[in-house]
Order: sequence, then structure tokens, then C-alpha cells
Amino acid sequence: MNIAVGADHGGFILKQVVVEQLKQLGHTIVDCGADTLNPADDYPDFARAVGEAIQRGAAERGVLICGSGVGAAVAATKMRGIRSSVCHDTYSAHQAVEHDDMNVLSLGARVVGDELAKELVRAFVAARFDGGERFQRRLNKVLEMEGNK
Ligand code: RB5
Repeated sequence: MNIAVGADHGGFILKQVVVEQLKQLGHTIVDCGADTLNPADDYPDFARAVGEAIQRGAAERGVLICGSGVGAAVAATKMRGIRSSVCHDTYSAHQAVEHDDMNVLSLGARVVGDELAKELVRAFVAARFDGGERFQRRLNKVLEMEGNK
């Protein structure tokens, strides 16, 4: 699948690890930056780039990385059609897709190490939305809230 990956300076180093892992798993990367380590860059810019890649259909899912994962997730969830959360345990990384149709995984490079990040990414991309009636019903309520913003 096409996966948009973006990171600010806090996530820049881990982004290379995540990109390599996704490539090894056979996915195509839509690189949303940062291209260089710039301590003055801002996570909302990368959250926007990843969100827009999904909105225009260039990517099916996204991975965002900042220092904590929080800022990037907060910014991404402001965008229509983007459902993102920080998931630093593998259960959440796949369950958030299966139950909640999360399409952007957010990671904190100052919180998780390389190996855990790789496991989290693997769990995220392997998961599919369950589509069961109760999950769809809940998702519809979330989408309704989004429409009312
Ligand atoms: C940047 O220093 C840091 O604040 C950012 O990467 C992120 O952790 C925000 O949530």
C-alpha cells in the first residue's frame, strides 16, 4: 500500500528506520518530509502534508513521527477524514485500525526505540478495519461529528 510518512526534527532520525521497515514490508513510501534535520521546523507542517496525501488519494495510510507523537496526532486529527492517535503498544496499533479505522499512526521518537517502532508499524499496516456493524455504527458517529465542525 502507499503510505505517507512525515516527521519533524523530533522524529527525523526514527523516520529513516520507519521508512526502511515499510519498504522491507513491500510498501511504497510517499515522503512528506522532513528532508533535512532542521531544529526549527514545525510538526503541523508534516501532519498537514501526510493528511493531504491521504485526502487526495496518494496514500491509503500515514505514519507521523515527532518527539512525543502527540503534537503530530493532534494536528492530523484536525483534518477531514484523518483519524490518528499515538500508539506505543502493539495492541493499540492494530486495534485502532480494526475498531476505529485509524489511518495515521503517530509515534514519539523520544519515547519508543527503533525496534518497538518497527513492531508498531508492522502491527499498524497489517491491520484492516473490521467493518462489523458496531464498529461501523461508531465510526459513522465520529464522521457525523466531523461533518458538524
Ligand atoms: C519538538 O521539539 C517537539 O515539541 C515535537 O516534536 C513534538 O514532540 C510535539 O508533540
